[in-house]
Amino acid sequence: MLLEQYKEAIENSNIVSKTDINGVITFVNDEFCAISEYSREELIGKKHNIVKHPSIPKNHFKKLWKTITAKKTYKATVKNLSKSGKDYYLNTTITPILDENGEIEEYIAIRYDVTKEVELTMVLEKQEQILEERVKQQTKELEELTHTLERRVQEEIKKNEEKQKILFMQSRFASLGQMIANIAHQWRQPLTELNWVLFSLKNAFRKSNSNEFENNYQEAQQIISNMSNTIEDFSNFFNPNKKKSLFTIQDSINDALNILSNHLQKEEINIKKDFIDIQVEGISNELSQVIINLIQNAKDAFSINHIQNKIIWISISKIEIKSKPFAKIVIEDNAGGIDEKHIDKIFEPYFSTKHASTGTGIGLFMSHMIIQNSLNGIITVENGGKGAKFIITIPTK
Ligand SMILES: Nc1ncnc2c1ncn2[C@@H]1O[C@H](COP(=O)(O)OP(=O)(O)OP(=O)(O)O)[C@@H](O)[C@H]1O
Ligand SMILES: [Mg+2]
Repeated sequence: MLLEQYKEAIENSNIVSKTDINGVITFVNDEFCAISEYSREELIGKKHNIVKHPSIPKNHFKKLWKTITAKKTYKATVKNLSKSGKDYYLNTTITPILDENGEIEEYIAIRYDVTKEVELTMVLEKQEQILEERVKQQTKELEELTHTLERRVQEEIKKNEEKQKILFMQSRFASLGQMIANIAHQWRQPLTELNWVLFSLKNAFRKSNSNEFENNYQEAQQIISNMSNTIEDFSNFFNPNKKKSLFTIQDSINDALNILSNHLQKEEINIKKDFIDIQVEGISNELSQVIINLIQNAKDAFSINHIQNKIIWISISKIEIKSKPFAKIVIEDNAGGIDEKHIDKIFEPYFSTKHASTGTGIGLFMSHMIIQNSLNGIITVENGGKGAKFIITIPTK
């Protein structure tokens, strides 16, 4: 009686079936019929795999049979298919029932429905998957964006480099113009002299004075040789293909002053030097070019502001920045200084306050480029007491 009550209790609360040792169904309760949607008549006498889901791999059943034929209890959550094609999940326990001899008599399977739980888990997993996909997608997009950005930066850098090359070229042309102007200037005097010597030569020829003729001839040769030296000096100076080497700053500045000496004399500009001996690495002519640019700017400012007593102070000194040695060059004039509203822009390419015929605005840009790229240095500007004050610092060896 007690056993009967247990049986009833189990059958009422679970999905129960029994099979013989070959898996042929011998008993099903109402719950089994309800969930599988088969009638009792349809089930009894059929193999239990009538309810199996086609997606379950064969392996699963192999394991099941291996367990229960070894007289052990099998437990698993199993996916089944109802008669109308609905999936349902059962938490299943199959127990072999043994006879008095200990041989398997039949199998009893007790299950309960876990479809809702399984489906919920699946929905959650799916959402997790979607989320993961989204994260992956966004990571990919971000990577692509970074890539595109990198490429754009590279492109911009390249464009910028090309722009700078063009500016360098333009400055070379400007230098060429400067060179021709300088040569023309330097030649004016000897050409006049040569004219006189030729006139004297003609006279000597007429008078058949061979001594005078010889003297004039030699003088003409001397003048011509000086003139050709001038060309050589200038073309050496402006030669763009030079290698970096150690050079003395004061030599480089003196070269610039020599080139400009005629100008400086004519304009009555007084240069006050305070030099010491320091070597740096780079191209001496390029530093000379910077000094020429700075002096020419001062010269322009003198004439724009009608300065009478024109002075340019040039000093070289040694300083330390963060216990590293630097050469410091200061070029200061008394031409009145730079308008404060322009001072931040003067190193920019094409910034000029001068008339287009006198200034293109690349002098200081080029100077800045040379100091920074060729000499690893820095050029800054401020208004000193009487005029503009340019400060150049270059690392020394
Ligand atoms: N010593 C100075 N005193 C006053 N203003 C200056 C001085 N040096 C430069 N400037 C100002 O800085 C501007 C830019 O100088 P930068 O040498 O670059 O160009 P520019 O002299 O105008 O033309 P370029 O040198 O190409 O012929 C000048 O137009 C001028 O306004
Ligand atoms: Mg200039």
